[in-house]
Parts: sequence; structure tokens; C-alpha cells
Amino acid sequence: MIDTPSLAPALAAVKAAFPAAAPRIGLVLGSGWSDVASAFDKLGELSYADIPGYGAATVVGHAGKLVWCRAAGVETFLFMGRRHYYEGIGWNPVALPAFLLKSLGAKAMFLTNAAGGVNADWAPGDLMLIEDHINMMGVTPLLGAHDPFWGPRFPDQSHVYDRDLQRLLRKAAQAAAIPLRAGIYLAGTGPTYETPAEIRAWRALGADAVGMSTVPEAMLGNAAGLRILGLSCITNMASGILDQPLTHEEVTETTRRSMANMRALIAQFWNELGAANTL
Ligand code: HPA
Repeated sequence: MIDTPSLAPALAAVKAAFPAAAPRIGLVLGSGWSDVASAFDKLGELSYADIPGYGAATVVGHAGKLVWCRAAGVETFLFMGRRHYYEGIGWNPVALPAFLLKSLGAKAMFLTNAAGGVNADWAPGDLMLIEDHINMMGVTPLLGAHDPFWGPRFPDQSHVYDRDLQRLLRKAAQAAAIPLRAGIYLAGTGPTYETPAEIRAWRALGADAVGMSTVPEAMLGNAAGLRILGLSCITNMASGILDQPLTHEEVTETTRRSMANMRALIAQFWNELGAANTL
């Protein structure tokens, strides 16, 4: 359940730090994605610790700061690190990027993550455009009294991931000659990795990748009227596919190896975004 009025001090802190900020889009950098920030020209930065209610990101591979920046003429908020439901901190910190972006007039939110590969034809290091998702968290951030900030009582989810932005990401991948998979992201709560039986079940349900994030933010952003885009780095094969334990070190090691592609794809997407002038 989100207590939206209590997010106001966070918005005030961001406005005080960046009085001239008018981001068109936000980019949430998940586990291992932080180095993509070098594709942007920084205008300012604010530690998450200085954003009331956001706190410090606690997961290795998450830098924990908000960067106000620009690339290809597109003003952007970079969320370097995200807060997760499994941290036990409630939904407010998870909802904050969408809240700040919508409150500051941004039109879109681009969500990145590290994910396990459920599709056995894929390999660690592959990048996957999220076409749709399955919420296996057993909860939703929209539980509770209806707050019109987050759209209608029963938000439509026919196209959570914006089709024009998906087209633009595919175009960017082609232009930068970076292979791009596309598929379905399934979110569990974590913080455990899955059992092999869960992965078999979820593959049968249509999942291509599995993770512990992104779905709540996508649901909220979509409900609030932001155009959503999602991109996963497949950092490991999901549980039971290979006979080896899953570790966060493997996740961060794979993103290190794939960083050149991740950064080039993001940089080219911002070029396309600037040229298309759609936000
Ligand atoms: N499962 C869940 N979350 C993940 C995984 C995984 O295999 N890899 C990276 N994040």
C-alpha cells in the first residue's frame, strides 16, 4: 500500500536540489547497470540518503543516487540503484521514481534489471526487451484505498510496455548492431533465488526471464500514465538449468562483461529518442 502524501518531502528535496529540473524521462538502473551513467552528461546529483523516505540502496551493484543529466538533448533522471519490495521497506520507496517523474512532468520511465534466463535457448549476457510481464509476487503496490494520482481504480494493463518506445529500442539495437532478445519478464518477491520446480512451472506459464523487481514499478508507472520501457540483462541461467548454485557475484560479473553492449544500446536509444522527439 502506498502512502502518496508522505512522498511529498522527497519531491521537495529533489526540487530544492535541482530547481531547474524538467526531466522528460527517467532511467532506473538495476543491479550491475550503474556504469551506463557514463553515457549521460551530468547536470547534478543527489544521494538517496538525502531524499526523505528513500534511504540508502542496500544491494551490491546499486550506487544509490539520483543523477540529473542529459543525453542527445533529452533531459533525464537517472535512478542509480532501486529499492525492492524484498527489502521489507514497504511500497513507498519502490513507488518513488514513478512519483517523482510524474510529479515533475516526465512522460516516460525506462526500467532496467538483471534477470535469470528461463528461456533455455538464451545465454548469460543476452539483453532482453520486456514485451510483457507476469506478476508472481502475490502482492501489488496498488492495494488499498484508491488514490487518483495512480490512475483509475482498475488500471488497464493491455499494453504496460509502450509499443512506440519498444520500436525505438529495437531500432536502436539495429543501428548499434547489438543483438536484442524480446520476451516475458516474471517477477517473484525474492530474496531467495527460485527452485528448479518454480522455474519449470514459470517457463510453462510463458516466462522468458525471472527477477525480483521492475513489475511493481511498471504497474505503477503505467497506471499513472507514464510510458514504460523495460530492458533485462540476462545475467545467469535460472535455477536448475545448469548444475551450479546462483550467486549475486555471477550477476554482477555478467553485467561487467556485457557493459559495452548495455551502454551502447542505451546511448543509441537516447539518440533515437532525441531524433524522434516523442516525449
Ligand atoms: N532469479 C531472480 N532474480 C534474478 C536472477 C534469478 O535467477 N538473476 C538476477 N536476478
